[in-house]
Amino acid sequence: MDEREGSGMKVAVSGKGGVGKTTVAGTLARIFSRKGFKVLAIDADPNANLGLTLGVPLDQAKTVIPVSENAALIEEKTGVKPESYGGVFRLSFSVGDVIDRFGVQTLDGVTLLVMGVVRSAGQGCMCPANALVRALIRHLIVRREEVVVLDMEAGTEHLGRRTAEHVNVMLIISDANRKSLETAKNIYALSREMGVEQAFIVGNKVLNPFEEGVIKEYCADNGLFLLTLIPYDEEIRKNDVKGEALDLSKASSGLTAIKTLSERLLSTSLE
Ligand SMILES: Nc1ncnc2c1ncn2[C@@H]1O[C@H](COP(=O)(O)OP(=O)(O)OP(=O)(O)O)[C@@H](O)[C@H]1O
Ligand SMILES: [Mg+2]
Repeated sequence: MDEREGSGMKVAVSGKGGVGKTTVAGTLARIFSRKGFKVLAIDADPNANLGLTLGVPLDQAKTVIPVSENAALIEEKTGVKPESYGGVFRLSFSVGDVIDRFGVQTLDGVTLLVMGVVRSAGQGCMCPANALVRALIRHLIVRREEVVVLDMEAGTEHLGRRTAEHVNVMLIISDANRKSLETAKNIYALSREMGVEQAFIVGNKVLNPFEEGVIKEYCADNGLFLLTLIPYDEEIRKNDVKGEALDLSKASSGLTAIKTLSERLLSTSLE
């Protein structure tokens, strides 16, 4: 089956540090799962904490071995040990079993795969761990009714490693701060260069009409597609302070906006 034909979504969530990538990625994953989609959430941030947003208890989250640090798996797939830089290793291998073997079942039926740090010797490094991670993302066939959500590392540096090359939607989160917006603009341009089909800006932690105006104006001036605005929401903040997943049955302004975001993504991506 052609990956694009009747395919579902592979969404990468990116943006400057602390803008709300993990909150949006995790909550979106849960909402899609509740809508009946089969959802795979990939933690592609070396500082992995998507598990908490998905309701994985901290003790359990701590025991998960990231795929990129699983030496036995890397050797099994690529034929070489993880530390063999520059050596010859297999580039084609099956990855379908990795999710079944290493995915963690979480709240609302979302499967979590912790990718971990890819310690590269340089940009676009072809060390075995990186080959495994890239193969995973490339070969994930997302069928109709299936969604993959990637929680990315902050900033733009990692995009040089092209982890996001094979996603079809780049969701770029930004608050109203100028630096966040500048980073968002850079990621938007990089997404285009990588050939990502759709890139959208999501304004987050919007405190007031002034901040709303700043984000809207910046996007309009720079030709960036603004998909949704998520208000600053104490409920979201409170849950993170407690280290718990958001209660999806409790209405709040932020949750309502993330639900709207999920609808917009479905209507723009799954014609
Ligand atoms: N809409 C919102 N309203 C209030 N607080 C929010 C909102 N979105 C995110 N936050 C808070 O902002 C903080 C950072 O959020 P989060 O961890 O999702 O960001 P991140 O971009 O993934 O950060 P990092 O770059 O460290 O991975 C958290 O304390 C979270 O609760
Ligand atoms: Mg994060």
